[in-house]
Amino acid sequence: MRDTGIVLVLLQIIGSLQGQMLPKEIKKCHFGDSKCIVNSMNSVIKYFPKGIPAIGLKPIDVVDIRNSKFWNDEMVGAFWLKFDLFNQVNYGFENTTITKVSGFDENPTSSLIEIHGRIPSLIHKGDYFSTGRVWIVQMNSTGESLSDFQNFRFVLKLKVIMEYRNNKRYLKIYELTPFVTMDRWVFWLDNFFESNTDLTIAINQVFNLHWVEFWNELEPKNLKIFSGVFLSVFEDIFKKVSYDDMFLPISKEFEVND
Ligand SMILES: *[C@@H]1O[C@H](CO)[C@@H](O)[C@H](O)[C@H]1NC(C)=O
Ligand SMILES: *[C@@H]1O[C@H](CO)[C@@H](O)[C@H](O)[C@H]1NC(C)=O
Repeated sequence: MRDTGIVLVLLQIIGSLQGQMLPKEIKKCHFGDSKCIVNSMNSVIKYFPKGIPAIGLKPIDVVDIRNSKFWNDEMVGAFWLKFDLFNQVNYGFENTTITKVSGFDENPTSSLIEIHGRIPSLIHKGDYFSTGRVWIVQMNSTGESLSDFQNFRFVLKLKVIMEYRNNKRYLKIYELTPFVTMDRWVFWLDNFFESNTDLTIAINQVFNLHWVEFWNELEPKNLKIFSGVFLSVFEDIFKKVSYDDMFLPISKEFEVND
């Protein structure tokens, strides 16, 4: 019953989509009304985890980053030579809470746009292949890798320019800088020592005990990936929905009549 209701609501929403307008269910805000914008973003995340194709919102429950090279040829620690990840996918963006925004003013190019948020658990899964030297032994390993970034907090700083199409203003991001922190990075490589489970567990324990050092070493690479993921979330929306259509029209009473 509940599912049928949800489907009906969704059909109504899809039915009400007109061109590139925002669905009616997404509350529009006044320019600069940060509190309203935070609530509106959170309801989009909550009610549309599968995305809204008409406005360019991609699914956020499963974020596929297969096409980016993550940690390719990365030296991790003292003993790894090469580490490749492929078939990568992220889970957990659907549980994002936006906590603060700023800069969504009438003229957003005059200041930096900031988006602050929190994800209770950001899961990154991939298959890995590593080849290298552990002490004097040359070895190859392959298997599944799992990362869990716990209590993941991010700040995105966006620099934007305006583009004009059909007399409407569209945002274009020309720089997105992410800042991230977390309580813990849980990292697990399956099958690292193919014939020795105890050794695999031992090496994973070493990673997890020293996750801060591994994070520090990989942070520039990771931030590049995160910025790509976040960029892909926003870029299509900004391309499809004009900036003016995202907000309530400016009240006429403030305009000078002549
Ligand atoms: C997202 O939140 C739901 C509800 O709390 C939870 O069941 C689910 O496991 C969470 N997803 C991830 C990837 O943590
Ligand atoms: C490990 O893989 C590399 C590249 O695929 C290969 O050249 C090498 O012979 C392999 N070494 C072992 C010990 O399996």
